[in-house]
Amino acid sequence: MRSGGHDYEGLSYLSGSPFVILDLVNLRAITVDAGNATAWVQSGATVGELYYRIGEKSTTLGFPAGVCPTVGVGGHFSGGGYGMMLRKYGLSADNIIDAQVADVNGKLLDRKSMGEDLFWAIRGGGGNTFGVVVSWKIRLVPVPETVTGFTVLRTLHQNATSLVHKWQFIAAEELPHELYMRVILQSRNGADGNRTIEAFFEALYLGEADELLDVMGSSFPELGLTREDCIEMPWINSTIYFAGFSGQPLEILLNRSSNTKSYFKYKSDYVKEPISEPVLEEIWKWLIKADQGALQMIWNPYGGRMSEISESAIPFPHRAGNIFKIQHLTSWTNGSVEESAKRISLIRSFYGFMAPFVSKSPRSAYINYRDLDIGMNNEFGNTSYGQASIWGTKYFNRNFDRLVRSVPPLTSW
Ligand SMILES: Cc1cc2nc3c(=O)[nH]c(=O)nc-3n(C[C@H](O)[C@H](O)[C@H](O)COP(=O)(O)OP(=O)(O)OC[C@H]3O[C@@H](n4cnc5c(N)ncnc54)[C@H](O)[C@@H]3O)c2cc1C
Ligand SMILES: *[C@@H]1O[C@H](CO)[C@@H](O)[C@H](O)[C@H]1NC(C)=O
Ligand SMILES: *[C@@H]1O[C@H](CO)[C@@H](O)[C@H](O)[C@H]1NC(C)=O
Ligand SMILES: *[C@@H]1O[C@H](CO)[C@@H](O)[C@H](O)[C@H]1NC(C)=O
Ligand SMILES: *[C@@H]1O[C@H](CO)[C@@H](O)[C@H](O)[C@H]1NC(C)=O
Ligand SMILES: *[C@@H]1O[C@H](CO)[C@@H](O)[C@H](O)[C@H]1NC(C)=O
Ligand SMILES: *[C@@H]1O[C@H](CO)[C@@H](O)[C@H](O)[C@H]1NC(C)=O
Ligand SMILES: *[C@@H]1O[C@H](CO)[C@@H](O)[C@H](O)[C@H]1NC(C)=O
Repeated sequence: MRSGGHDYEGLSYLSGSPFVILDLVNLRAITVDAGNATAWVQSGATVGELYYRIGEKSTTLGFPAGVCPTVGVGGHFSGGGYGMMLRKYGLSADNIIDAQVADVNGKLLDRKSMGEDLFWAIRGGGGNTFGVVVSWKIRLVPVPETVTGFTVLRTLHQNATSLVHKWQFIAAEELPHELYMRVILQSRNGADGNRTIEAFFEALYLGEADELLDVMGSSFPELGLTREDCIEMPWINSTIYFAGFSGQPLEILLNRSSNTKSYFKYKSDYVKEPISEPVLEEIWKWLIKADQGALQMIWNPYGGRMSEISESAIPFPHRAGNIFKIQHLTSWTNGSVEESAKRISLIRSFYGFMAPFVSKSPRSAYINYRDLDIGMNNEFGNTSYGQASIWGTKYFNRNFDRLVRSVPPLTSW
């Protein structure tokens, strides 16, 4: 099954033999009911198309989903789905109120006819497992007429280490739910050959700049946020701001193509205890030692609404107790076997280095950052059940057993 085709391991393109792709690209109708603050969205739509259609109908409604507009709704909602409103409204999957699933006989089931077990499983239990989700009914969320975004860069000479260290103590627990401030970390070659660390503090505040400055002045004055750093805009504009398309027409959200031509290998981790400054210095060494940009990290704060939702409400289990999620990234453009092997080996070693500083037993991971290294499927895309309890608990923790029981009987497939 393929909706937006963004699976990190290409699982929507791969299969054993015989090989069939069920492509939902043309099933992408979106019906927004602004009066009731709901919408039906078909799986083949992208989150960009969804944002655009909501923006057409209302300036005070939004939906919490991914940052990249070309991500497909089908896979995204199936694995959770998060973006810059995570702390205020949780995941996409937390805001699904009905769905249509096609069963093996082509019968369309809705929430009532599929039953609560299957309805529970499809909201975060991972794509390609429980049936073809054709359409989702979602609850739209209120957003103010004006929101504020900023992206502030600090290098090592600008106290990046102590800022990143302090960020861990405020980003999840202290800041208001309306403020989502993530950190993107990478190294840069200076003009004089110096390597430094760049820490980009990137944030969405569901409110005006003056309020945001008050919040930052009291919780994080060290960052030195100024009025000039703050960009006030409607929520729909913030979706193109964070996608890197500021200034372009909103119709860019409808464009399903991307000109990204790089290869990548990404991994994820959850952090429950703040990482100390000496360990941050060790992490910087890894980023600096790698070629410029070869290793990056994105630190996504949790807390807020995420801590209020119970671990078993839907299959996605990473709730209270998680300060932030790390996305480890490496990407490259030379697709030679040697270069690819080098990069994959680099990120695996770095992931090995990080083990003591992240969640343990299980070392948790986000299913939408699919990573076959942790044993989900083999290279043919078929599941190796022998390792299921390994990837199962990493992605779903204690919800894994219930998910296994939710899979429709194999005889009907
Ligand atoms: C550039 C980029 C940016 C991203 N940004 C974010 C982000 O900000 N936040 C976030 O949470 N995630 C993000 N992701 C991860 C994304 O959420 C997952 O890759 C997601 O699974 C993609 O959904 P898709 O429909 O595009 O993918 P697909 O490759 O089409 O599908 C993913 C999986 O779901 C299955 N599937 C697809 N459609 C259906 C369906 N209708 N019913 C049942 N199963 C189905 C597929 O078989 C496959 O196993 C990003 C990914 C990329 C590549
Ligand atoms: C699944 O993968 C295994 C290799 O681990 C292979 O032997 C088997 O034939 C595959 N099954 C299908 C249906 O392709
Ligand atoms: C809510 O939905 C119902 C049923 O579709 C519709 O009749 C009603 O007009 C809607 N309410 C508003 C305020 O739009
Ligand atoms: C870095 O931090 C020190 C001490 O906390 C402070 O005196 C100094 O002004 C900061 N430097 C910058 C560039 O913010
Ligand atoms: C290069 O590094 C040295 C030592 O850390 C520092 O003093 C100098 O300011 C750096 N140069 C630049 C351009 O950042
Ligand atoms: C919102 O974005 C559109 C498209 O880029 C632009 O024309 C408009 O001026 C923006 N509005 C604000 C208030 O920034
Ligand atoms: C869509 O995006 C692609 C890649 O960025 C670009 O080449 C193409 O021109 C865009 N199409 C439209 C209609 O804007
Ligand atoms: C790609 O990498 C390989 C091996 O590292 C090298 O031989 C080749 O020249 C590179 N190609 C390009 C276009 O840089």
